[in-house]
Amino acid sequence: MNENFRPLVKAACEARRNSYSPYSTFRVGAALLTGSGAIVRGTNVENASIGLSICAERAAVCSAVAAGETRFTAIAICADGAEPTLPCGACRQFLREFGPDLTVLVAGDQGLQGAVLEFSLEELIPHAFETFLDNLAPDADDGKGKS
Ligand code: THU
Repeated sequence: MNENFRPLVKAACEARRNSYSPYSTFRVGAALLTGSGAIVRGTNVENASIGLSICAERAAVCSAVAAGETRFTAIAICADGAEPTLPCGACRQFLREFGPDLTVLVAGDQGLQGAVLEFSLEELIPHAFETFLDNLAPDADDGKGKS
């Protein structure tokens, strides 16, 4: 792992401690590195209506978009368990919306003290659903509406 990613992994592990996961008791934290160098965190938030639960990765993306960030260079994910957990399929597709060139770092509950694996998003979701991405108007590539 590139040493520059250490703060990102650390942020994901800190976010994991804020997980709201009383049903699965599986805590996940995520941290996105934006094009402007900011780190935006997310954690999984569960709900008594189980299907409404949201993963840490998607929570981080929603938080970043609300802050005006749509360009991301890396995401770190830190979940419970000794072995690193990889993002679910829904999160892979959700991340793909913002570009194929994303570094994905995954850590277990030992954070930087344990194994940290690195993937590209392209490796994790080859042949993603990209149909409408091809149709984006050139001046609408940040997805923001008219002001
Ligand atoms: N979870 C994540 O936060 N990210 C993933 O990529 C996989 C699963 C969460 C959702 C749920 O709160 C818990 O882990 C168990 O599935």
